[in-house]
Amino acid sequence: MEQYVIKGGIPLVGEVEIGGAKNAALAILAAAIMTNETVLVDNLPDVKDINVLLNAMTEIGARVERLDRHTAKINGALIGDFSVEYESIKRIRASYYLLGALLGKYKRAQVPLPGGCDIGTRPIDQHLKGFRALGAEVKIEHGFIIAEAARLRGSHIYLDVVSVGATINIMMAASMADGNTVIENAAKEPHVVDVANFLNSMGANIKGAGTDVIRIRGVESLHKTEYSIIPDQIEAGTFMFAAAVTKGDVTVKNVIPKHLEATTAKLLEIGCEIKELDDAVRVVCSKGLKSTNVKTLPYPGFPTDMQPQITVALALAKGTSMVTESIFENRFKYVDELARMGADIRVKGNTAFIDGVGRYTGAQICTPDLRAGAALVIAGLAAEGLTIIDDIHFIERGYERFEEKLQSLGAQMEKISSDRELQKFKFKVG
Ligand code: EPZ
Repeated sequence: MEQYVIKGGIPLVGEVEIGGAKNAALAILAAAIMTNETVLVDNLPDVKDINVLLNAMTEIGARVERLDRHTAKINGALIGDFSVEYESIKRIRASYYLLGALLGKYKRAQVPLPGGCDIGTRPIDQHLKGFRALGAEVKIEHGFIIAEAARLRGSHIYLDVVSVGATINIMMAASMADGNTVIENAAKEPHVVDVANFLNSMGANIKGAGTDVIRIRGVESLHKTEYSIIPDQIEAGTFMFAAAVTKGDVTVKNVIPKHLEATTAKLLEIGCEIKELDDAVRVVCSKGLKSTNVKTLPYPGFPTDMQPQITVALALAKGTSMVTESIFENRFKYVDELARMGADIRVKGNTAFIDGVGRYTGAQICTPDLRAGAALVIAGLAAEGLTIIDDIHFIERGYERFEEKLQSLGAQMEKISSDRELQKFKFKVG
């Protein structure tokens, strides 16, 4: 079992390059099978979730050629199987994007009910509502979602909750439906816009992505394209908070500062200095952190995927803070681990009440999910002494070469897989 071992207390300093957005890439790769021509996708993050999806696509007959770590060619012409096996995809949530992609192109799809991080109940009723509105018959049998239609026809769909996944999935299927579709109360996240731009570059006709009304005129077929994925706002935000809690000076490069506005606003509130450049953001934090309140919301609100990272910072800040999670009901599981490092946090319902403690002390802790895992690494970087983090496979689902990037900023941390390596690390850091 691999672990991270961290000797904390060193301010992170330097520059770090941010990769492509995982959650945009997952949808874009699935959508790439919607044409029979070859699609080239660049700026892919080389993380586990992407590799799981690419494998599942290969298993249904797509041809996937990895040109390098961050570039793949996809060809969906020979897909002969519209049924995705449970074993190949059970670990990732984005399996549901194959539903929208296959249904749009072949009018038939069978995909296992999605897995993914255990952060709440995560229903998919809005996805199914959308497919049904487009004329598909949808049933759930033996753990699979089965969707079929003789033809898909455009429709007017109002989403009862703002859902990134449902918005993207309906957008994909509707791109190849007969006639016009309107999605109201659509999600506005940057990756929704990125997927729409990608589909449009394949010949789809999607307008309004990035607002809460998306209009889609269905087309008969899609064609080849070459596309580069947007930078990952959550990876960027994670490094920005790592700079804040270690009292560091970090420039995150290859970002779109506009996508980071909610994160930037909160870092300013808690006492950091931020400098925005064209495609980079510099975070300098030399003083103690100040308390604040935050509530997670759909974009452009503060992202739920940054909630554990800001909590880690606020638990060190002077005074009392409140963090309210309004998207997922079970996203505070890491708080018990943080308490083992000295944090003083009480969770009541969907709100964490935090009394800043000023310092963490290193401990052996366990990662409950992807973003919480990254946040616990940040806590370890700020802590006095040694922190050992178990279950880092969660972190590797969404962060590429996380430890290498942190090392390049001066972090003393390593990925280890034996007690011998742990002893070696201890000897090295003294
Ligand atoms: C996406 O999940 C991301 N995952 C999540 O990132 C992210 O936390 C989330 O969007 C919110 O930004 C991927 O892109 C693969 P939603 P998704 O549908 O699409 C409710 C990470 O760490 N809902 O926007 O599953 C749902 O329960 C992951 O990278 C319904 O009620 O999220 C939630 O309360 C974790 N019915 C809210 O909507 C539905 O049919 C938003 O969920 C769909 C969702």
